[in-house]
Amino acid sequence: MSRRRMIYEGKAKILYEGPEPGTLIQYFKDDATAFNAEKKAVLDGKGVLNNRISEFIMTRLGAVGIPNHFIKRINMREQLIRKVEIIPLEVIVRNVAAGTMSKRLGIAEGETLPRAIVEFCYKKDELGDPLVSEEHIAAFGWASPQELDDIISLALRINDFMSGLFAAVGIRLVDFKLEFGRHFEGDMVRTILADEISPDSCRLWDLVTNEKLDKDRFRRDLGGVTEAYAEVARRLGIIKESA
Ligand code: C5P
Repeated sequence: MSRRRMIYEGKAKILYEGPEPGTLIQYFKDDATAFNAEKKAVLDGKGVLNNRISEFIMTRLGAVGIPNHFIKRINMREQLIRKVEIIPLEVIVRNVAAGTMSKRLGIAEGETLPRAIVEFCYKKDELGDPLVSEEHIAAFGWASPQELDDIISLALRINDFMSGLFAAVGIRLVDFKLEFGRHFEGDMVRTILADEISPDSCRLWDLVTNEKLDKDRFRRDLGGVTEAYAEVARRLGIIKESA
């Protein structure tokens, strides 16, 4: 590995100082974690696939006017991104009940929700990223009222666009997690989409068979994790063959 300055190491990614001021390099690791890092594994090739899938989705979101941190892919595992100040929220959008929502509210996994639902979790590993309300966000100042408005409207636009993108290749977008950041442009600060969008951060089910093509394969020991990620990449036309 190069001698670039490491800024931050997360569970699945590393951030390095970028070549220009205001840029960073986002490196995608093969590490997989679940249940707040209680479960860990290294999945050969996952980082390469997530780098490509996130590039693909961020590029398309940018093309339809969703501001995001992606600048360009540098190599198989790295992309150049805009430096932002991360807003300490995990923004979850759900179309179909699954995961913690099914558990929390007793709604059968797979039940279509009456409408898309946006949830917020406070980004704090030590606490296991607890669910919080807009009241908490406002009272503790984690995001300003304007930022929260921007986040909700961007999250719903992203959901509309991504639901269509995946439906077109036979995949149901069940739910996904987004992160946003403050991008400082001279005197201006703008809320932009950051982090990654990949099968690590989305639930993706085959439209016909309901087969899981996402990180639940790892969480639930279903096997074939990278094969499923490769299938997503293949259907999106990012790679030619299934791995
Ligand atoms: O576990 P839960 O049902 O709350 O997850 C909702 C969605 O957010 C899933 O697509 C999951 O992969 C994603 N998520 C994530 N990172 C987290 C928590 C959830 O990408 N820390």
